[in-house]
Amino acid sequence: MSVPGVAAGAIRIFDTTLRDGEQAPGAGLTVEEKLEVARQLVRLNVDVIEAGFPASSPGDFEAVQRIARETKGVAVAGLARCRDGDPQRAVEALLPAERPHLHLFIATSDIHLTHKLRITREDALEAAVKWVRYGRQALGPDAEIEFSAEDASRTDPEYLLRVYEAVVDAGATTVNIPDTVGYAIPAEFGDLTRRVVERVGSGAVISIHCHNDLGLATANTLAAVQAGARQVEVTINGLGERAGNASLEEVVMALRTRPTQFLGGGSRVATEQISAASRLVSYLTGFLVQPNKAIVGKNAFAHESGIHQDGVLKNPLTYEIMTPQSVGLAGNRLSVGKLSGRRGLQGKLAELGYQLEGESLDSVYGAAIALADAKKEVTDADLVALVEQHAAESPYVVTGPAIALDGWNVTSSHGGRSLGNVALRLRGETLTADSSGNGPVDALFGATDRAVEKSLGWHPVLTDYEIRAVSAGEDAQGQVLVRARRSTDPEATADTATGHGLSTNIIEASLEAYLAALEKLLALPDSGTSRVAGTTATPAADRVAP
Ligand code: KIV
Ligand code: ZN
Repeated sequence: MSVPGVAAGAIRIFDTTLRDGEQAPGAGLTVEEKLEVARQLVRLNVDVIEAGFPASSPGDFEAVQRIARETKGVAVAGLARCRDGDPQRAVEALLPAERPHLHLFIATSDIHLTHKLRITREDALEAAVKWVRYGRQALGPDAEIEFSAEDASRTDPEYLLRVYEAVVDAGATTVNIPDTVGYAIPAEFGDLTRRVVERVGSGAVISIHCHNDLGLATANTLAAVQAGARQVEVTINGLGERAGNASLEEVVMALRTRPTQFLGGGSRVATEQISAASRLVSYLTGFLVQPNKAIVGKNAFAHESGIHQDGVLKNPLTYEIMTPQSVGLAGNRLSVGKLSGRRGLQGKLAELGYQLEGESLDSVYGAAIALADAKKEVTDADLVALVEQHAAESPYVVTGPAIALDGWNVTSSHGGRSLGNVALRLRGETLTADSSGNGPVDALFGATDRAVEKSLGWHPVLTDYEIRAVSAGEDAQGQVLVRARRSTDPEATADTATGHGLSTNIIEASLEAYLAALEKLLALPDSGTSRVAGTTATPAADRVAP
């Protein structure tokens, strides 16, 4: 059958970075950050954006509703359990979407039915049918209604097929086969998919959803496509619960690189946007991409050995099965100098996947020229970091800051404690404090804590700190990510805020990141449970996960 919303012969790409991806522990995104990712997914040309799980929290509801309202030319999906309350919330959030896609699920394996849901197989089937009917009726004849049998790969296949038949009769237009715990093996998963295609493939799009617990998510996804699946559920960088989901970039580039193996078709993805999407998701979630990760790892196109370099120089086909340009890597060449113009920078940024103009372009341009003064070479990687830190669209540009850094000073020596001093302005009040610490960053964070405590009665508590060099060389920029919570919030349930800093001086970058996180903590409501829209992610304690 043809796949709605997708050209004949194409595989529908259902991106669940904002739902399953965001369920990765510590990957929580704010509403604004989710919108930023959604905009990049539109540039990437995915077919469906699963924007969240509306009933799980007010923050998720708002994110799904805003993405449904603000993104055009793409279907927007929301997840719901087959139980009273969830589907209604999802429908409400999806109503503004150009193409609403309701994603209903219930577990079908005996393990889940007996131990988790404590219901019978017949109860599960009944609930599935009931809520599929509800979705069809609530969203109308043109909406996409998807049904997922959670833990399908460990479900009795005959029962599974019966459930799929019943939901298709009730109005489901997509049936999804999740390998929820990453248990399947490719040939086995291909066989299961084939059986589902044979039984209900003439009435619904067959979709698959693979987790990576055995490192087989991409292999299982591709085996299912060869067996007739026409929708694949994937995430950027393979982000997701536990070991993650099948990665969008791997699946899409496999379809593109080996077209004769996938006669069901390729995807419509604008693959040159892959690197920008990968960087954005990594930056916002703070999940670094391993260097040898296929397609988007920093070494994915690096040729180290002399034999390989020689071969690639003679003809890239010797060792490259796809070009770096096809995934949006222009190479790490010198890209801007002090004399570069604004327009030249704009073109360079476009090559890297960023369309900037106006105020955003001005502020990145100013930062790039300042960096060109401080650093011998401004590379593509430097530019990407500057866009992340300075573009007006970036969720990290803190407008109207409650807190500003007036100055700092630190002394540090071998074997001794470091001594730090900071001068800050907090909501207009000038504060200074000193502290000693176990190194210069610790001393300055300690001084910040003291200054803030004096004024607010609480201070930030660092929960995570990461630093990376943006490019090589002694004058490389350091990019720092911190996560922090408020000292007054109980550790187990506290909201954490992320902050980023970027500078050729890593101490400055660290302080910048700490203050950016503090800025977000200052925007939290005092109760610590309800959220300020667009300010923080919903804390783990307030969330319902499938
Ligand atoms: O892994 C899973 O089973 C899921 C479903 C909700 C589709 O994420
Ligand atoms: Zn999943």
